[in-house]
Amino acid sequence: MKGTGNKWRMLLAIGFLIIIYGCVAAQETRQPQPGADKKAIAGESESGTEPTGAGIYQQKIKPLTTRQCAQCHYAVFSDIRDRGGRHQLSCTECHETFHTWKPGREWSSVVPRCATCHELPHGPAFPECLKCHTDPHAPIAGLVKAEALADDCIRCHAAQENELRRHKSAHTEVACSECHHDRHGYKPKCNECHDEPHTPYTDNAGCQTCHPAHAPRNITYPATTPNQVCAGCHEEIADKLAHSHRKHATKPCVFCHVDRHGYVPHCTKCHSEPHSKKMLEPFKYNCKACHGEPHNLILPGHE
Ligand code: HEC
Ligand code: HEC
Ligand code: HEC
Ligand code: HEC
Ligand code: HEC
Ligand code: HEC
Ligand code: HEC
Ligand code: HEC
Ligand code: HEC
Ligand code: HEC
Ligand code: HEC
Ligand code: HEC
Repeated sequence: MKGTGNKWRMLLAIGFLIIIYGCVAAQETRQPQPGADKKAIAGESESGTEPTGAGIYQQKIKPLTTRQCAQCHYAVFSDIRDRGGRHQLSCTECHETFHTWKPGREWSSVVPRCATCHELPHGPAFPECLKCHTDPHAPIAGLVKAEALADDCIRCHAAQENELRRHKSAHTEVACSECHHDRHGYKPKCNECHDEPHTPYTDNAGCQTCHPAHAPRNITYPATTPNQVCAGCHEEIADKLAHSHRKHATKPCVFCHVDRHGYVPHCTKCHSEPHSKKMLEPFKYNCKACHGEPHNLILPGHE
C-alpha cells in the first residue's frame, strides 16, 4: 500500500514539472529574439521574407522603431541626430500617437506637449515654449537669436542685472544683447569694443583680474600685479618710487594699495606708534610734515 502511494506522488511531481517547463518554453517563444527588433520591418516576417496569400495577415505586427520612422521622416531624424542635444529620444517617447491629424483638427491635439515632460522650467512667465525653442527636435540649437530675447534677459538673469545696476558704470548703459549678441549664451571678448588695452593683459581672463564684466569700475587686482602695470598710468609716482633710496621702494605698489584700486592706506596702518604723542602733537600727527610723501620718503637727519 505504501509503495503505490509513493508511485502516485512521484507521477504527480513529474506531471507538475512538465507543466512548469511547458509554461517557460511557451514564454520564451513569445519573447522576441535578440536582434529581431532591429531586423524586423513592419509587414515582414521574422525571417525577413514576406509570406504570401492569406499568410500575410497571420504575421505579428510590431510598433514602428525610430529607424522606421526615419525612413519616411529623414529630415526630422537627421535634425535630431545632428542638433538634437538631449532630445535624442526615440520618436514614440514623444509621439505616443501620430498620423491622426486631419484638416479641421487642432494641430496641438496631435503633437506632444512640452509640459508632459517639463512643466514650466522658467516659471509661469514663460508658457509658450516654441516661441523661443522654435525646433522641438533641437530645442537648444533651435533657440531664437539673442536679440529676440533682449526684452527677457533680466527676467531670467536677475543677478547680472542687479550687479550692473548696483555698480554704476558705462556698462550699465550698454544693452545685455549688445555684448551678448547673436547666439544666446555667447560671451564677448573685451577687445571687441576696447582696442589698445592699457595693460599687457590682452584676453578676458586678464582684463577680468581687475575689471569684473558687469562692474568694470569695481577694480580689484591680485597681489602679484607688477609695478609696471600701475606705471602705465601713474608714471610719475612709479618713477619717484623707483629712484627712492628708502625702504618703501623695496615694496610693490599693491603691497600698500592692497586689493582695490583707489585704496589709500593711512601711515598708521603699518606704523602704529612710531613716535611719542609729544613729538607728533605739534604737527597734528601729520607724518608727511617731516617724512615727505610715501613714494619718496625723507628720513630727517639722514641723507
Ligand atoms: C522630445 C520630443 C520629440 C521627439 C523625441 C520627437 N518629436 Fe517630433 N515633434 C515633437 C513636437 C513637440 C512636435 C510639434 C511641433 C509643433 O507644434 O510645431 C513635433 C513635430 C513633428 C512632426 C511634424 C512637424 C515637422 O517637423 O515635420 C513630425 C513629422 C515629427 N515630429 C516626427 C518625428 C520623428 C520621425 C521623430 C523621431 C525621429 C520625432 N518626431 C521625435 C516632439 C518630438
Ligand atoms: C511610410 C512613411 C511613414 C512612416 C514609416 C512614418 N510616417 Fe509620419 N508621416 C508620414 C507622412 C506622409 C505624413 C504627412 C505628411 C507630412 O507632413 O510629412 C506624416 C506625418 C507625421 C506627423 C505629423 C502629423 C501627425 O498626424 O502626427 C508626425 C508627428 C509623424 N508623421 C510622426 C511619425 C512617427 C513618430 C513615425 C514612426 C513611429 C512615423 N511618423 C512614421 C509618413 C510616414
Ligand atoms: C517625452 C518627454 C519630453 C517631451 C514631450 C519634451 N521633452 Fe524636452 N527633454 C526631455 C528629456 C528626457 C530631456 C533631457 C533631460 C535631462 O537630461 O536632464 C529634455 C531636454 C530638453 C532641453 C535641454 C536640451 C539640451 O540639449 O540640453 C530643452 C531645452 C527641452 N527639453 C525643451 C523642450 C521643449 C521646448 C519641448 C516641447 C516642444 C520638450 N522639451 C518636450 C523630454 C521631453
Ligand atoms: C523667452 C524664451 C523662452 C521660453 C518662452 C522658454 N524657454 Fe526654455 N530656455 C530658454 C533659454 C534662453 C534657455 C537656456 C538655453 C541654454 O542653455 O543656452 C532655455 C533652457 C531650457 C531648458 C534647459 C534647462 C536648463 O535650465 O538648462 C529646458 C528644459 C527648457 N528651456 C524648456 C522650456 C519649456 C518646457 C518651455 C515652455 C514651458 C520653455 N523652455 C520656454 C528660453 C526660453
Ligand atoms: C527664459 C529664460 C532665459 C532668458 C530669457 C535668457 N536666458 Fe540666458 N540662460 C538661461 C539658462 C537656463 C541658461 C543656462 C543655465 C545657466 O548657466 O544659468 C542661460 C545661460 C546664459 C549665459 C551663459 C552662462 C554661462 O555661465 O555660461 C549667458 C551669457 C546668458 N544666458 C545671457 C543671456 C542674455 C544676454 C539674455 C537676453 C538676450 C538671456 N540670457 C536670456 C535662461 C535664459
Ligand atoms: C559690456 C558688455 C556686457 C554687458 C552690457 C553685459 N554683459 Fe554679461 N558678460 C559679459 C562678459 C565679458 C562676460 C564674461 C565672459 C567671460 O567669463 O569671459 C559676461 C558674463 C555673463 C553671464 C555668465 C555668468 C557671469 O556672471 O559671469 C551672464 C549670465 C550674463 N553675462 C548675462 C548678462 C545680462 C543678463 C546682461 C544685462 C543685464 C549682461 N550680461 C550685460 C559682458 C557683458
Ligand atoms: C559690446 C561692447 C563692449 C564690450 C564687449 C566691453 N565693453 Fe567695456 N565699455 C563699452 C562702452 C561703450 C564703454 C563706455 C565708453 C568707453 O569707455 O569706451 C565701456 C567702458 C568700459 C570701462 C570704463 C567704465 C566707466 O564707467 O568708466 C571699463 C573699465 C571697461 N569698459 C572694461 C571692459 C572689460 C574689462 C570688458 C571685458 C570683460 C569690456 N569692457 C567689454 C563697451 C564694451
Ligand atoms: C591691473 C589691473 C588692470 C587690468 C589687468 C586691466 N585694467 Fe583696465 N583699468 C585699470 C585701472 C586701475 C583703470 C583706471 C580706472 C579709473 O580711471 O579710475 C582702468 C581703466 C580702464 C578703462 C577706462 C578707460 C581708460 O583707459 O582709462 C577701460 C576701457 C579699461 N580699463 C579696459 C581694460 C581692458 C579691455 C583690459 C584688458 C585688456 C583691462 N582694462 C585690464 C586696471 C586694469
Ligand atoms: C588705466 C590707468 C590706470 C592704471 C593701470 C592704474 N591706475 Fe590708479 N588711478 C588711475 C586714475 C585715472 C586715477 C584717478 C581717478 C580715480 O580716483 O579713480 C587713479 C587713482 C589711483 C589712486 C588714488 C585714489 C585717490 O583717492 O587719490 C591710487 C592709490 C591708485 N590709483 C593706485 C593704483 C595702483 C596701485 C595701480 C596698479 C595696481 C593703479 N593705480 C593702476 C588710473 C590708473
Ligand atoms: C609703502 C607703501 C606704499 C607703496 C609701496 C606705494 N604707495 Fe602709493 N601711497 C601710499 C600712501 C600711504 C599714500 C597716501 C599719501 C597721503 O596720505 O597723501 C599713497 C598715495 C598714492 C596715490 C594718490 C596720491 C598721490 O600721490 O597722487 C597714488 C596714485 C599712489 N599712491 C600710487 C602708487 C603707485 C603707482 C605705487 C607703485 C609704483 C605706489 N603708490 C606705491 C603708500 C604706498
Ligand atoms: C602698508 C604698510 C605701510 C604703510 C601704509 C606705510 N609704510 Fe612706511 N614702511 C613700511 C615698511 C614695510 C617699511 C620698511 C620697514 C623695515 O624694513 O624695517 C617702512 C618704512 C618706513 C620708514 C623708514 C624708511 C627707511 O628707509 O628707513 C619711514 C620713515 C616710513 N615708513 C614712513 C611712512 C609714512 C610717513 C607713511 C605714510 C605716509 C608710511 N610709512 C606708510 C610699510 C608701510
Ligand atoms: C617732527 C618730525 C616727525 C614727524 C611728525 C614724524 N616723524 Fe617719523 N621720524 C622722524 C625722525 C627724526 C625719525 C628718526 C630718524 C632716525 O632714525 O634717525 C623718524 C623715524 C621714523 C621711522 C623709522 C623708524 C625706524 O626705527 O627706522 C618711521 C617708520 C616713522 N618715523 C614713521 C612716522 C609716522 C608714521 C609718522 C606719522 C604718524 C611720523 N613718523 C611722524 C621725524 C618725524
